[in-house]
Amino acid sequence: MGKIGIFYGGTLKGSTKTVADKLAKLMGVKTDDIINIATASVELLNKYDRLIFGTSSWGIGGAHYDWENFVDLLSDVDFTGKKVAMYGLGDQKKYPESFVDGMGMIYCRLNAKECVVGFTPVTGYTYYFSMAERDGQFIGLALDDDSQRELTEPRIVAWADQLKKEFK
Ligand SMILES: Cc1cc2nc3c(=O)[nH]c(=O)nc-3n(C[C@H](O)[C@H](O)[C@H](O)COP(=O)(O)O)c2cc1C
Repeated sequence: MGKIGIFYGGTLKGSTKTVADKLAKLMGVKTDDIINIATASVELLNKYDRLIFGTSSWGIGGAHYDWENFVDLLSDVDFTGKKVAMYGLGDQKKYPESFVDGMGMIYCRLNAKECVVGFTPVTGYTYYFSMAERDGQFIGLALDDDSQRELTEPRIVAWADQLKKEFK
């Protein structure tokens, strides 16, 4: 499958990091390979064949500033042969016009869109607009730990299974 690195950012309340830890457990990723994007570098990203990017959402079109600061550097990463999957946290009840926009922002700014796997259906969520929606699907895993907490765990488990196949 290739070496997996989980790069998470923007975890003021801790949920984005908690999801990184859960995914790591399910996918056999070591603690050293769970990295806060605030401390990451292009060289570090280049070391991994399979990348998981995780972010929360902060305002319309926005991720946490740690991801906003890093996102320009993604164009310096060599994505040849790599696969990328993304998860995003948000709150569809309070922010239905920008649901999981953080994940959508990273996708928009990623040149190597052909590397992205881990798309999921938009069914089961209620919102008006999301930058993370493309052709009727989310470009990654959308999690709403604020208004659908009970669904977080099963969504992570199902997505980890999906990634095990799509990361091959
Ligand atoms: C000031 C503020 C702005 C937010 N903006 C959005 C938003 O635009 N879209 C969205 O889906 N969620 C938004 N959220 C919800 C957070 O992304 C969500 O609570 C997330 O789980 C926080 O992750 P963390 O626990 O890792 O900090 C916002 C939350 C706050 C406090």
